[in-house]
Amino acid sequence: MTTPVPRPGEYDGLVAAVTGGGAGIGAAVVTELLARGARVAALDLDPSAAPDGALPVVCDVADRASVDAAVARVAAELGGLDVLVNNAGISAVGTVEENDDATWARVLDVNVTGIARVTAAALPHLRASSAAAVVNLSSIAALNGLPQRALYSASKGAVMSLTFALATDHVREGIRVNCVCPGTVHTGFVDRLLQNFPDPVAERAAMDARQATGRMVTPAEVAHAVAYLASPRNGSTTGTALDVDGGVTHL
Ligand code: NAI
Repeated sequence: MTTPVPRPGEYDGLVAAVTGGGAGIGAAVVTELLARGARVAALDLDPSAAPDGALPVVCDVADRASVDAAVARVAAELGGLDVLVNNAGISAVGTVEENDDATWARVLDVNVTGIARVTAAALPHLRASSAAAVVNLSSIAALNGLPQRALYSASKGAVMSLTFALATDHVREGIRVNCVCPGTVHTGFVDRLLQNFPDPVAERAAMDARQATGRMVTPAEVAHAVAYLASPRNGSTTGTALDVDGGVTHL
């Protein structure tokens, strides 16, 4: 992982919570926000591998009681909550004929309802902040017809729509809400996904080739975009979706 360049002062005094902060993109976001001066909690099913300096908090975004307890703990131990990064998400491969109802329910529950649960729990704290920002992890799958990703794409399209709805509902309360749409980012998420394909090496090469830049996006690049969107210096950006996709969507 690229070490973020510290920007002392930018997030001084702010508290951030990152769901799925124990691995992959979420851990990179935790690292980036710590480097910019925030106090950061990593909320995860397993936060044991969260970056040093973060408050590790066990949290299942699919369980309201777990979410409420985790958010309350962050606010109590770190002193409020200013920035929420809804990053926790799970993958699904297949066409509509290949994913059953239980799989649909599970992925939508984690990827979409999970964001609603965590955001609802965070809102009382965000309203009390003078620098409140929420950043959600959508995907290029929201905007591009990727093969074998019917359920995942539907979930990430919903994340984008939910982002715009949240931005509208809470703009007058001083809460900004944006999302990032990464292309394929090399994390454990992708390594596990590749195992679903008959030829993982060929699929990996196809994923690289799909990026106009010819390579996958790095977690640090996504983390930089998240930190940009959530930055208190970025007070006029709300209700936007920022592509970090190696050019997939528009080139
Ligand atoms: P990852 O699988 O490497 O890490 C996800 C983290 O979320 C793990 O630490 C996991 O324990 C945690 N998590 C999973 N379910 C959870 C739950 N119910 N409650 C709390 N934590 C939970 O995934 P990665 O690649 O870092 O992805 C993060 C986000 O970025 C996801 O929302 C994903 O859909 C999105 N994304 C990923 C892309 C990629 O190519 N890796 C591309 C576009 C978006």
